[in-house]
Amino acid sequence: MAAAKASSIELSGTTYCILTGASQGIGRAIAVEVSKLLGPKSLMLLLARNKDELAKTASLCKSANVEVIYESIDLSKANISQMNDLIKTSLKGRKVSDFDTGIIFHNVGSLGNLAVDTGRMENVPELREYYDLNVFNVISLNTQFLKVFEDVEERLVIVNITSLCAIKPMSGMAYYCSGKAAREMYFKVLAEEKKHVKVLNYSPGPVETSMIDFVLSEAVNENLRDVFNSFKSQNTLLKPEVTAQKCMKVLKLSNFSPGEHVDYFDDEI
Ligand SMILES: NC(=O)c1ccc[n+]([C@@H]2O[C@H](COP(=O)([O-])OP(=O)(O)OC[C@H]3O[C@@H](n4cnc5c(N)ncnc54)[C@H](OP(=O)(O)O)[C@@H]3O)[C@@H](O)[C@H]2O)c1
Repeated sequence: MAAAKASSIELSGTTYCILTGASQGIGRAIAVEVSKLLGPKSLMLLLARNKDELAKTASLCKSANVEVIYESIDLSKANISQMNDLIKTSLKGRKVSDFDTGIIFHNVGSLGNLAVDTGRMENVPELREYYDLNVFNVISLNTQFLKVFEDVEERLVIVNITSLCAIKPMSGMAYYCSGKAAREMYFKVLAEEKKHVKVLNYSPGPVETSMIDFVLSEAVNENLRDVFNSFKSQNTLLKPEVTAQKCMKVLKLSNFSPGEHVDYFDDEI
Protein backbone atom coordinates (compact mmCIF):
# COMPACT_ATOMS: atom_id res chain seq x y z
CA MET A 1 0.00 0.00 0.00
CA ALA A 2 1.17 3.55 -0.66
CA ALA A 3 2.51 5.86 2.01
CA ALA A 4 -0.03 7.96 3.90
CA LYS A 5 -1.78 10.17 1.36
CA ALA A 6 -5.00 11.25 3.02
CA SER A 7 -5.96 12.58 6.41
CA SER A 8 -7.64 10.02 8.64
CA ILE A 9 -11.28 9.14 7.97
CA GLU A 10 -13.38 9.69 11.07
CA LEU A 11 -16.78 8.06 11.29
CA SER A 12 -17.24 8.76 14.99
CA GLY A 13 -18.91 12.11 14.34
CA THR A 14 -22.43 12.56 12.97
CA THR A 15 -22.26 10.53 9.77
CA TYR A 16 -24.52 9.94 6.80
CA CYS A 17 -23.97 6.53 5.19
CA ILE A 18 -25.45 4.86 2.11
CA LEU A 19 -24.75 1.21 1.44
CA THR A 20 -25.94 -0.77 -1.58
CA GLY A 21 -26.33 -4.55 -1.63
CA ALA A 22 -27.07 -4.44 2.09
CA SER A 23 -29.46 -7.42 2.26
CA GLN A 24 -26.82 -10.13 2.62
CA GLY A 25 -23.18 -11.15 2.31
CA ILE A 26 -20.42 -8.56 2.39
CA GLY A 27 -22.89 -5.64 2.32
CA ARG A 28 -24.63 -6.81 5.47
CA ALA A 29 -21.29 -7.31 7.22
CA ILE A 30 -20.07 -3.83 6.22
CA ALA A 31 -23.34 -2.32 7.45
CA VAL A 32 -22.89 -3.96 10.84
CA GLU A 33 -19.24 -2.91 11.17
CA VAL A 34 -19.95 0.67 10.07
CA SER A 35 -22.87 0.99 12.49
CA LYS A 36 -20.52 0.21 15.40
CA LEU A 37 -18.33 3.21 14.52
CA LEU A 38 -20.88 5.95 13.91
CA GLY A 39 -21.36 8.89 16.25
CA PRO A 40 -24.59 10.35 17.66
CA LYS A 41 -27.37 11.39 15.25
CA SER A 42 -25.91 9.36 12.41
CA LEU A 43 -28.08 8.07 9.61
CA MET A 44 -27.74 4.95 7.47
CA LEU A 45 -29.61 4.25 4.23
CA LEU A 46 -29.50 0.58 3.23
CA LEU A 47 -30.45 -0.45 -0.31
CA ALA A 48 -31.17 -3.79 -2.05
CA ARG A 49 -34.28 -5.56 -3.40
CA ASN A 50 -35.13 -8.00 -0.61
CA LYS A 51 -37.03 -5.99 1.99
CA ASP A 52 -37.17 -8.72 4.65
CA GLU A 53 -33.43 -9.25 4.51
CA LEU A 54 -32.83 -5.48 4.55
CA ALA A 55 -34.97 -5.31 7.70
CA LYS A 56 -32.76 -8.00 9.22
CA THR A 57 -29.59 -6.03 8.39
CA ALA A 58 -31.20 -2.88 9.81
CA SER A 59 -31.97 -4.67 13.08
CA LEU A 60 -28.35 -5.84 13.30
CA CYS A 61 -27.21 -2.22 12.93
CA LYS A 62 -29.46 -0.83 15.66
CA SER A 63 -27.68 1.44 18.11
CA ALA A 64 -28.46 4.51 20.15
CA ASN A 65 -26.35 6.60 17.77
CA VAL A 66 -27.81 5.55 14.45
CA GLU A 67 -31.11 5.81 12.68
CA VAL A 68 -31.27 3.08 10.05
CA ILE A 69 -33.53 3.45 7.02
CA TYR A 70 -33.88 0.84 4.31
CA GLU A 71 -35.51 0.88 0.90
CA SER A 72 -36.23 -1.95 -1.47
CA ILE A 73 -35.05 -0.92 -4.91
CA ASP A 74 -33.94 -2.70 -8.05
CA LEU A 75 -30.75 -0.84 -8.83
CA SER A 76 -30.57 -2.26 -12.35
CA LYS A 77 -33.72 -0.32 -13.21
CA ALA A 78 -33.65 2.72 -10.93
CA ASN A 79 -33.59 6.07 -12.69
CA ILE A 80 -31.77 9.26 -11.78
CA SER A 81 -34.73 11.04 -10.18
CA GLN A 82 -35.58 7.98 -8.06
CA MET A 83 -32.03 7.84 -6.77
CA ASN A 84 -31.95 11.56 -6.10
CA ASP A 85 -35.31 11.40 -4.25
CA LEU A 86 -34.17 8.41 -2.23
CA ILE A 87 -31.16 10.28 -0.87
CA LYS A 88 -33.03 13.54 -0.28
CA THR A 89 -35.98 11.80 1.41
CA SER A 90 -33.65 9.84 3.68
CA LEU A 91 -32.29 13.13 5.05
CA LYS A 92 -35.74 13.83 6.55
CA GLY A 93 -35.27 17.58 6.37
CA ARG A 94 -31.79 17.60 7.84
CA LYS A 95 -29.17 19.70 6.08
CA VAL A 96 -26.15 18.02 4.53
CA SER A 97 -24.01 20.35 6.65
CA ASP A 98 -25.47 18.68 9.77
CA PHE A 99 -23.21 15.70 9.01
CA ASP A 100 -19.49 15.65 9.76
CA THR A 101 -18.95 12.91 7.18
CA GLY A 102 -20.92 11.49 4.26
CA ILE A 103 -19.91 8.02 3.13
CA ILE A 104 -21.21 5.76 0.38
CA PHE A 105 -20.38 2.08 -0.10
CA HIS A 106 -20.99 0.86 -3.64
CA ASN A 107 -21.19 -2.79 -2.74
CA VAL A 108 -23.97 -4.00 -5.05
CA GLY A 109 -22.73 -6.55 -7.54
CA SER A 110 -23.65 -9.55 -9.63
CA LEU A 111 -21.67 -12.07 -11.63
CA GLY A 112 -23.38 -11.96 -15.00
CA ASN A 113 -23.78 -14.89 -17.35
CA LEU A 114 -21.23 -17.57 -16.44
CA ALA A 115 -22.67 -20.06 -18.90
CA VAL A 116 -21.45 -18.42 -22.08
CA ASP A 117 -17.99 -18.75 -23.59
CA THR A 118 -16.17 -15.42 -23.80
CA GLY A 119 -15.70 -16.03 -27.53
CA ARG A 120 -19.46 -16.38 -27.96
CA MET A 121 -20.76 -13.30 -26.17
CA GLU A 122 -23.39 -11.70 -28.40
CA ASN A 123 -26.42 -11.08 -26.20
CA VAL A 124 -26.06 -7.32 -26.06
CA PRO A 125 -29.35 -6.64 -24.21
CA GLU A 126 -28.20 -9.03 -21.46
CA LEU A 127 -24.77 -7.38 -21.32
CA ARG A 128 -26.44 -3.98 -21.18
CA GLU A 129 -28.58 -5.08 -18.24
CA TYR A 130 -25.46 -6.36 -16.51
CA TYR A 131 -23.69 -3.05 -17.04
CA ASP A 132 -26.79 -1.12 -15.95
CA LEU A 133 -26.58 -2.66 -12.48
CA ASN A 134 -22.85 -3.01 -12.06
CA VAL A 135 -21.48 0.06 -13.81
CA PHE A 136 -23.93 2.64 -15.17
CA ASN A 137 -26.23 2.86 -12.16
CA VAL A 138 -23.31 2.74 -9.75
CA ILE A 139 -21.98 5.83 -11.51
CA SER A 140 -25.45 7.33 -11.53
CA LEU A 141 -26.04 6.79 -7.81
CA ASN A 142 -22.61 8.15 -7.05
CA THR A 143 -23.41 11.25 -9.08
CA GLN A 144 -26.63 11.80 -7.13
CA PHE A 145 -24.68 11.43 -3.88
CA LEU A 146 -22.17 14.04 -5.09
CA LYS A 147 -24.96 16.36 -6.21
CA VAL A 148 -26.94 16.19 -2.96
CA PHE A 149 -23.79 16.62 -0.84
CA GLU A 150 -22.23 19.19 -3.19
CA ASP A 151 -21.89 21.87 -0.49
CA VAL A 152 -19.84 19.63 1.80
CA GLU A 153 -17.85 17.73 -0.78
CA GLU A 154 -14.67 17.82 1.28
CA ARG A 155 -16.44 15.73 3.95
CA LEU A 156 -17.22 12.87 1.58
CA VAL A 157 -15.84 9.35 1.44
CA ILE A 158 -16.58 6.97 -1.44
CA VAL A 159 -15.87 3.26 -1.20
CA ASN A 160 -16.22 1.03 -4.23
CA ILE A 161 -16.26 -2.68 -3.46
CA THR A 162 -14.12 -4.00 -6.25
CA SER A 163 -12.41 -7.34 -6.90
CA LEU A 164 -9.12 -8.85 -7.93
CA CYS A 165 -11.06 -9.53 -11.14
CA ALA A 166 -10.96 -5.78 -11.90
CA ILE A 167 -7.21 -5.99 -12.42
CA LYS A 168 -6.56 -9.66 -13.21
CA PRO A 169 -8.41 -11.61 -15.89
CA MET A 170 -10.25 -14.73 -14.75
CA SER A 171 -11.35 -17.27 -17.39
CA GLY A 172 -15.09 -17.61 -17.73
CA MET A 173 -15.88 -14.29 -16.03
CA ALA A 174 -15.85 -11.76 -18.86
CA TYR A 175 -19.02 -9.99 -17.72
CA TYR A 176 -17.74 -9.68 -14.16
CA CYS A 177 -14.09 -8.80 -14.90
CA SER A 178 -14.91 -6.19 -17.55
CA GLY A 179 -17.63 -4.63 -15.39
CA LYS A 180 -15.42 -4.50 -12.30
CA ALA A 181 -12.55 -2.99 -14.35
CA ALA A 182 -14.78 -0.27 -15.82
CA ARG A 183 -16.33 0.51 -12.44
CA GLU A 184 -12.96 0.72 -10.70
CA MET A 185 -11.51 2.97 -13.39
CA TYR A 186 -14.46 5.37 -13.09
CA PHE A 187 -13.69 5.77 -9.38
CA LYS A 188 -9.98 6.21 -10.14
CA VAL A 189 -10.69 9.02 -12.58
CA LEU A 190 -13.07 10.63 -10.10
CA ALA A 191 -10.40 10.42 -7.39
CA GLU A 192 -7.90 12.03 -9.75
CA GLU A 193 -10.26 14.97 -10.30
CA LYS A 194 -11.55 15.34 -6.76
CA LYS A 195 -8.54 15.03 -4.50
CA HIS A 196 -10.56 16.50 -1.62
CA VAL A 197 -12.99 13.53 -1.73
CA LYS A 198 -11.58 10.32 -0.26
CA VAL A 199 -12.06 7.51 -2.75
CA LEU A 200 -11.13 3.89 -2.04
CA ASN A 201 -11.43 0.80 -4.25
CA TYR A 202 -11.56 -2.03 -1.70
CA SER A 203 -11.13 -5.61 -2.90
CA PRO A 204 -12.54 -7.96 -0.24
CA GLY A 205 -10.78 -11.20 -1.20
CA PRO A 206 -12.66 -14.48 -1.74
CA VAL A 207 -15.57 -14.37 0.69
CA GLU A 208 -18.11 -16.99 1.72
CA THR A 209 -21.32 -15.56 0.24
CA SER A 210 -24.01 -16.64 -2.20
CA MET A 211 -21.78 -15.39 -5.04
CA ILE A 212 -19.48 -18.36 -4.53
CA ASP A 213 -22.39 -20.82 -4.72
CA PHE A 214 -23.60 -19.06 -7.86
CA VAL A 215 -20.23 -19.62 -9.54
CA LEU A 216 -20.24 -23.30 -8.61
CA SER A 217 -23.76 -23.84 -9.90
CA GLU A 218 -23.55 -21.74 -13.10
CA ALA A 219 -19.98 -21.66 -14.38
CA VAL A 220 -19.18 -23.63 -17.54
CA ASN A 221 -15.50 -22.75 -17.61
CA GLU A 222 -13.48 -25.57 -16.06
CA ASN A 223 -10.65 -23.38 -14.81
CA LEU A 224 -13.15 -21.16 -13.02
CA ARG A 225 -14.90 -24.13 -11.42
CA ASP A 226 -11.51 -25.51 -10.28
CA VAL A 227 -10.50 -22.22 -8.68
CA PHE A 228 -13.76 -21.88 -6.76
CA ASN A 229 -13.89 -25.57 -5.82
CA SER A 230 -10.43 -25.24 -4.33
CA PHE A 231 -11.51 -22.19 -2.31
CA LYS A 232 -14.22 -24.38 -0.81
CA SER A 233 -12.25 -27.59 -0.35
CA GLN A 234 -9.23 -25.82 1.15
CA ASN A 235 -11.40 -23.69 3.39
CA THR A 236 -9.74 -20.48 2.21
CA LEU A 237 -12.90 -18.40 1.96
CA LEU A 238 -13.06 -15.43 4.28
CA LYS A 239 -16.03 -14.75 6.52
CA PRO A 240 -17.88 -11.55 5.48
CA GLU A 241 -17.28 -9.93 8.87
CA VAL A 242 -13.52 -10.49 8.63
CA THR A 243 -13.17 -8.61 5.34
CA ALA A 244 -15.63 -5.95 6.50
CA GLN A 245 -13.45 -5.34 9.57
CA LYS A 246 -10.36 -5.02 7.37
CA CYS A 247 -12.20 -2.49 5.21
CA MET A 248 -12.96 -0.42 8.33
CA LYS A 249 -9.28 -0.61 9.30
CA VAL A 250 -8.20 0.57 5.84
CA LEU A 251 -10.61 3.50 6.10
CA LYS A 252 -9.58 4.42 9.63
CA LEU A 253 -5.87 4.52 8.79
CA SER A 254 -6.49 6.16 5.39
CA ASN A 255 -3.10 4.98 4.24
CA PHE A 256 -4.18 4.82 0.59
CA SER A 257 -3.72 7.13 -2.35
CA PRO A 258 -6.75 8.59 -4.22
CA GLY A 259 -8.72 5.78 -5.83
CA GLU A 260 -6.16 3.14 -4.88
CA HIS A 261 -7.09 -0.54 -5.25
CA VAL A 262 -6.51 -2.00 -1.78
CA ASP A 263 -6.90 -5.73 -1.38
CA TYR A 264 -7.76 -7.68 1.77
CA PHE A 265 -4.42 -9.48 1.42
CA ASP A 266 -2.33 -6.34 1.04
CA ASP A 267 0.32 -5.82 3.69
CA GLU A 268 -0.78 -4.92 7.16
CA ILE A 269 -1.50 -1.24 7.27
N1 LIG B 1 -17.93 -12.90 -2.47
C1 LIG B 1 -16.73 -12.70 -2.97
O1 LIG B 1 -15.86 -13.58 -2.93
C2 LIG B 1 -16.35 -11.37 -3.58
C3 LIG B 1 -15.03 -11.18 -3.99
C4 LIG B 1 -14.66 -9.94 -4.54
C5 LIG B 1 -15.60 -8.93 -4.67
N2 LIG B 1 -16.88 -9.14 -4.26
C6 LIG B 1 -17.83 -8.04 -4.42
O2 LIG B 1 -18.47 -7.76 -3.18
C7 LIG B 1 -19.77 -7.23 -3.41
C8 LIG B 1 -20.78 -8.00 -2.58
O3 LIG B 1 -20.73 -9.36 -2.98
P1 LIG B 1 -21.33 -10.57 -2.13
O4 LIG B 1 -20.40 -11.70 -2.31
O5 LIG B 1 -21.73 -10.12 -0.78
O6 LIG B 1 -22.61 -10.89 -3.04
P2 LIG B 1 -24.09 -11.31 -2.69
O7 LIG B 1 -24.14 -12.09 -1.43
O8 LIG B 1 -24.63 -11.93 -3.92
O9 LIG B 1 -24.78 -9.90 -2.44
C9 LIG B 1 -25.08 -9.04 -3.49
C10 LIG B 1 -25.92 -7.89 -2.97
O10 LIG B 1 -26.31 -7.08 -4.09
C11 LIG B 1 -27.73 -6.92 -4.07
N3 LIG B 1 -28.27 -6.83 -5.43
C12 LIG B 1 -28.09 -7.72 -6.44
N4 LIG B 1 -28.80 -7.35 -7.51
C13 LIG B 1 -29.44 -6.20 -7.17
C14 LIG B 1 -30.34 -5.33 -7.86
N5 LIG B 1 -30.75 -5.58 -9.11
N6 LIG B 1 -30.80 -4.23 -7.22
C15 LIG B 1 -30.41 -3.96 -5.94
N7 LIG B 1 -29.57 -4.76 -5.24
C16 LIG B 1 -29.11 -5.86 -5.85
C17 LIG B 1 -28.26 -8.14 -3.36
O11 LIG B 1 -29.50 -7.87 -2.74
P3 LIG B 1 -30.95 -8.29 -3.29
O12 LIG B 1 -30.83 -9.63 -3.91
O13 LIG B 1 -31.79 -8.23 -2.05
O14 LIG B 1 -31.32 -7.20 -4.25
C18 LIG B 1 -27.19 -8.36 -2.29
O15 LIG B 1 -27.47 -7.58 -1.16
C19 LIG B 1 -20.00 -7.33 -4.91
O16 LIG B 1 -19.74 -6.08 -5.53
C20 LIG B 1 -18.97 -8.35 -5.36
O17 LIG B 1 -18.60 -8.20 -6.70
C21 LIG B 1 -17.27 -10.34 -3.73
